[in-house]
Amino acid sequence: MDRNLALEFVRITEAAAIASARFMGRGDGNIADQAAVDAMRKAFDRVDMDGTVVIGEGERDEAPMLYIGEKVGQNTSNAPKIDIALDPLEGTNLCANGGIGATSVIAVAENNCFLHAPDTYMNKIAVGPKAKGAIDITKSPTENLNNISEALKKSVNEITVCILDRPRHNELIQEVRKAGARIQLISDGDVSGAISTGWDDSGIDVLMGIGGAPEGVISAAAMKCMGGDFQGILKWRHEEEKTRAKKMGIEDLDRVYRLEDLAKGPVMFIATGVTTGPLLKGVRFLSEGKAMTHSIVMRSATQTIRTIEATHYLQQKTWM
Ligand code: FBP
Repeated sequence: MDRNLALEFVRITEAAAIASARFMGRGDGNIADQAAVDAMRKAFDRVDMDGTVVIGEGERDEAPMLYIGEKVGQNTSNAPKIDIALDPLEGTNLCANGGIGATSVIAVAENNCFLHAPDTYMNKIAVGPKAKGAIDITKSPTENLNNISEALKKSVNEITVCILDRPRHNELIQEVRKAGARIQLISDGDVSGAISTGWDDSGIDVLMGIGGAPEGVISAAAMKCMGGDFQGILKWRHEEEKTRAKKMGIEDLDRVYRLEDLAKGPVMFIATGVTTGPLLKGVRFLSEGKAMTHSIVMRSATQTIRTIEATHYLQQKTWM
């Protein structure tokens, strides 16, 4: 994959972040999400690639734009063939409520290298590079915490676990507390939660719990770029989901997906902050029609992590 594509993609997440940030705190997630989708869709047209959305806004009949299977990019004769997993606004409610850490994200892989994850839930565990190889999602949270503690060379009560604040996690929270670890509950945005584990000074060591499966694939791509680790097991809500998954080619419904099963080969991960969070600053609108964005661009091939702060002169970006 051409490394310069990563910088093309950051323009796309920047456009989506700026568009949705205009609706921060306005209480309407749908408008913010739609603004991000529209801007991202438009920005894709400016990049020369033969792109296919494999994780997107939903099936074609439920999403008019950035639906699964949609072709994006200018697609000239030598354009690279790539698969795209995207979430134009990860943390819709965070943006609607002016909460912490909404982002616009894209992950990119070569053709057929992302798991085509059904729109269901996934039980996830993610850690940064120092604890790579120490996790096993089939083991109990306590066993995982002990192994992570050994890998990180710190005691369990110095470990912080990031968990989505949902009633379904009551048991998990009880067990983590009993094991003695610290907990950071987040209201939304488990992609950022996963990435935090690979950020040395984020204060988060491990993400545990159930969130969206598409977000799981995007997180796996990010963890691969950071040299971290990720595992997931799909969690079914009802029989109909299982039937649909089987039609999509998923045979073993209880399979443990490891990093390589979710994001094979070289991948890239790009994110721009919409609202300010622990990793990225949100979009700031300055005087005289300017806006500032803060993004990360990561590639698994070199594990380079670039952060980009950009000042945009919005009047000059007529396409935005
Ligand atoms: P959206 O960007 O679609 O709003 O998703 C936010 C999110 O918190 C994800 O980060 C997470 O994986 C998922 O929702 C959890 O789903 P639920 O809100 O149904 O528990």
